Formats: sequence, structure tokens, C-alpha cells
Amino acid sequence: MKAVVINQYGGKDRLQEAEVPIPSIQDHQVLVQMKATSVNPIDWKLREGYLKDMLPFDFPIILGWDAAGIITETGKSVKNFKVGDAVFARPDTTRNGTYAEFVAIDEDKLALKPPNVSFEEAASVPLAGLTAWQGLYDVLGLKAGEKILIHAGAGGVGSLAIQFAHHTGAYVATTASAENGAFVKNLGADMAIDYRTEHFEEILKDFDAVYDTLGGRIQSGSYQILKKGGRLVSIAEAPKQEEAEKYGVKADFLWLQPNGKQLAEIGELLQSGTVKAIVGQTFPFSQQGVREAHALSESHHARGKIVITF
Ligand SMILES: NC(=O)c1ccc[n+]([C@@H]2O[C@H](COP(=O)([O-])OP(=O)(O)OC[C@H]3O[C@@H](n4cnc5c(N)ncnc54)[C@H](OP(=O)(O)O)[C@@H]3O)[C@@H](O)[C@H]2O)c1
Repeated sequence: MKAVVINQYGGKDRLQEAEVPIPSIQDHQVLVQMKATSVNPIDWKLREGYLKDMLPFDFPIILGWDAAGIITETGKSVKNFKVGDAVFARPDTTRNGTYAEFVAIDEDKLALKPPNVSFEEAASVPLAGLTAWQGLYDVLGLKAGEKILIHAGAGGVGSLAIQFAHHTGAYVATTASAENGAFVKNLGADMAIDYRTEHFEEILKDFDAVYDTLGGRIQSGSYQILKKGGRLVSIAEAPKQEEAEKYGVKADFLWLQPNGKQLAEIGELLQSGTVKAIVGQTFPFSQQGVREAHALSESHHARGKIVITF
């Protein structure tokens, strides 16, 4: 099968088309023929070698950890899925990622693709959607009527987090550039702050929760807008506990866990139209297409998700 692999760490020119064997599945896995995948910042962070201590994979590495496609084979112990099912998933983080024509995926990471959602849309959701979901509900325990600031609302995680939080009945403030102001309000944000000309620390106060996608100075500034007992989750940088204690707030780091059950719950929201997958741009599955997709992700200014179609 065709895959796009890296044989060493480095720039996007390390991404190369290669012929590799179709993966063989274990009893608890299915084989998925890929229709679409998406690019997340972890892809190019791993490609550059920034994650080599945390994820010490042997080469060649197939990057990509979002899948949408059709099951062509099932392992002996697979109960809830069959050949021909259209599915989507955030597979485990292994060196056999989703920039490949076939991927072996554990049954418990899978969810059925809602029939009214395209493969491109479905591929854009698992990694970013589960990250948004687990941050909002498992870590922050967000409730109706609470006030939350979601940083980088126009990005892959932010554009889904806004929609989930709005659906929960929270008041949602978000940061985005001016050109994305109308876009994030359309997703359900009550207030859009242009981070290039305004300081959120001077505008917001007594918030219940912050969803930090950026870390650093933005994370430090975010404590100031929380009320005592408020909560912050970061997916970008582990919070400094002494800083959180100074403001009397709780601060946690989230590293998402692939989870088919939660993905199925997100699938229901997609099916009902409560939440929309935001596909910003698509690229073909080829060496050149994946390189261009990485360049866009590395710009830090992609709107919604970057999808690769097979
Ligand atoms: N811990 C985990 O499990 C986990 C999981 C997923 C992602 N992450 C990390 O979380 C971060 C966000 O991921 P993502 O997929 O959402 O990234 P993304 O889609 O690449 O984010 C791009 C967005 O960020 C916005 N942005 C850039 N600088 C900003 C700023 N200073 N203030 C507000 N918005 C800004 C841009 O909006 P404008 O164009 O309007 O500027 C753009 O829409 C990445 O660092 C990623 O590695 C971690």
C-alpha cells in the first residue's frame, strides 16, 4: 500500500511517499481502508523530532492520528463492527499512523461515522474533538451557566470546543484574529476578542474556566480572569502549580486519550447538526499534498481543520 513516511526527523521535505506492507490486524482490531485523514500540530512536532523522548519510535514512521474510512477486515474478538461499516477514529499513537491507505485500529477507539457526515468531515473530528471534549468535561467539568474562555477559537480544537461549550449552555468568550471574529461567533462564541489589538486580561473577569491551547504568557495571563476556585486546563503546556495556587485556582494539563465511546457521543452531536465539523482546507493524499498540509498547520493560522483525502 502507499504511505507517506519519514525516515528521519526534520523539515517537511522529509515526508516521502513509500510502498509499505498492509498492516496485519490483531484479534481486537479492524483494518480500515482510509478515505480521509487530518493534520494536527502533533504531526509536524513529531516530524521535527520535538517529541522523540516522549514517543521514541523507530523509523520509518507513518505520521497522522485521525482516521475515516471503511472496514475491510475484522479481528476474531471484534463484536460491535463489521466489514463494510463506515467508521472514524483517533487511533492509538503508534508509528503506524494514518497517512496510509490502510490502518489497523483497536475496536475500542472506533465509532460509526454518522451517515450525514462526509468522510472528510469525519476525519477532521476525532483528535481535536476528543481533546476539546475531555478538556471541557473530564477535566473542567463545565456546566450550563458557567463562563469559559477558550483560547484560539478558530483552530482545530478551539472551533469544536466553542461548539461543545455553547451546546452545554455556557457563556463562551474566545480569542481569535479580527478576520475570524464572525467565524467564531457563528460557532457559538458570545464574545470574540481580537488578540492582536486587545488584551483579554483587561476585558474578562470572574470567569469559571479557561481552556488554554497556547501556554506561556497566555496561560499566565489567564489566571487573572478566573474567580477564586476557578479551573484552567491546558493542552499546550503543563501549568506551574505555584502560579495557580497564587490565584487560588485549579490548573491541569490534558494529554488526550483515544476513546471510541466518547467519539460516538460526539458523532451523535454531528448527526443531529448540533455540532459541525469545520474543514478549513483539503489536500490530496500524496507526498506533495501532505507537505503542503504540514506547511499550513505550521503557520499557526489554519482555520478549522486541515484534511487529506484519499
Ligand atoms: N495535549 C493534547 O492532547 C493536545 C491535543 C491536541 C492539540 N494539542 C495542542 O494544542 C494546540 C492547538 O491545537 P489545534 O489543533 O487547535 O491548533 P491549530 O488548529 O493549528 O490552531 C490554529 C489556530 O490558532 C489560532 N491562533 C494562533 N495564535 C493565536 C493567539 N495568539 N491567540 C489566539 N489564537 C491564536 C489561529 O487563529 P488566527 O488565525 O485567528 O490567529 C488559528 O486558527 C497545539 O499546540 C497542539 O499541539 C494538544
